[in-house]
Amino acid sequence: MNILIPVASGIEAAAKREIERMGLGHAPAVRGRIELEGGWETVARLNVFLRAGERVLLEIGRIRAETFDELFDGTQALPWEEYLSAHTKILIDGKSFKSKLAAIKAAGGVVKKAIVSRLKEKLRVATLDESGERAVVGVSIFEDVATLTLDTSGDGLHKRGYRVLSYDAPLRETTAAAIIEDSFYRREKAFSDPFCGSGTLPIEAALYARGIAPGKSRTFDFERWKCTPKGAIARAKEEAVASEFHGEIAPIYASDLSPRAVSIAKEHAKRANVLKDIRFTAGDMRNFSAQERCGVLISNPPYGERMEAGEDLFPLYRDFAHMVKRLPDWSAYVISAYEGCERAFGRPDKRRILYNANLKCSLLAFFGKKPKNPRI
Ligand SMILES: C[S@@+](CC[C@H](N)C(=O)[O-])C[C@H]1O[C@@H](n2cnc3c(N)ncnc32)[C@H](O)[C@@H]1O
Repeated sequence: MNILIPVASGIEAAAKREIERMGLGHAPAVRGRIELEGGWETVARLNVFLRAGERVLLEIGRIRAETFDELFDGTQALPWEEYLSAHTKILIDGKSFKSKLAAIKAAGGVVKKAIVSRLKEKLRVATLDESGERAVVGVSIFEDVATLTLDTSGDGLHKRGYRVLSYDAPLRETTAAAIIEDSFYRREKAFSDPFCGSGTLPIEAALYARGIAPGKSRTFDFERWKCTPKGAIARAKEEAVASEFHGEIAPIYASDLSPRAVSIAKEHAKRANVLKDIRFTAGDMRNFSAQERCGVLISNPPYGERMEAGEDLFPLYRDFAHMVKRLPDWSAYVISAYEGCERAFGRPDKRRILYNANLKCSLLAFFGKKPKNPRI
């Protein structure tokens, strides 16, 4: 099967590295998605283990379609009955770019009609009641080629299940995980997020340090499909439990000026089963200091999402930069949409563009000195 994994812009490398580490080979990233081949075991493992990918799609076919008739015929020729039953609730998720079939809603309607027509014929039923399991069919048209997929994940992979409460401008879990994956963080090093908000970064760091698979406790749409071999998801989850790390990890510090944010973050950490690994405090980031000589600070300061008119963020960023400079051999990664960030911090060792909730952000990386003890 051809498997497609959409990844957000700027985090392709982290997702590719994860896939390689899972022993699934070198997968190329093309136009915001990673492609690889594999069976149901691979689909199950990707859903359970992947931290940075957005979802796991199965490619059912690629059709050259410049007209609705071509789209209908091409879709109807694909073996949908191998995956879908007479009860499947079929939803369509479409997008079109640089193509004659730009009216994506209409194109989605055509795809659904063609699938229904094929299923009625092959399953020998007069109607499809859509009362059962969900399957989201993706229709992605680019330069007049439609790629038709089935979404095995269902809810996006960023939905780990722990973030149930909301606080200001949270970072997407998959983006947080990708930044951690790309950083120098390892379980032997201290970690800090002094603007922790709802806790995404320290929780993702703790999940990473403990080797806890992000999809370990949730379900995926493909588990309920008729074509899924029994046991694939159970085996992936057993592998996840067996690979967890129960030894000692270096401290993970998380703090925020707002006591409410800290109590939300604690609740999320409890749900993610990492509360014991994170040292939460409420307080101003200006007061943060750590005993550990070496560590990794990854943080997402406010960038004006709730600013009063005329409020200036520069003093906060300047003080943050001073605080970071006081940490001896720490590396720091700052994600922000505030354009004065680099002015406050100075030239970074590395700079990258990321998107959070469709907002263009910079990730600035400042590397600390290499530790003398190579273990940390
Ligand atoms: C963009 S949000 C962080 C969101 C977080 N990454 C998440 O995923 O939920 C910025 C946070 O900085 C906090 N904050 C603002 N000024 C602060 C200060 N001086 N010291 C510590 N935290 C501060 C706010 O309360 C807010 O929770």
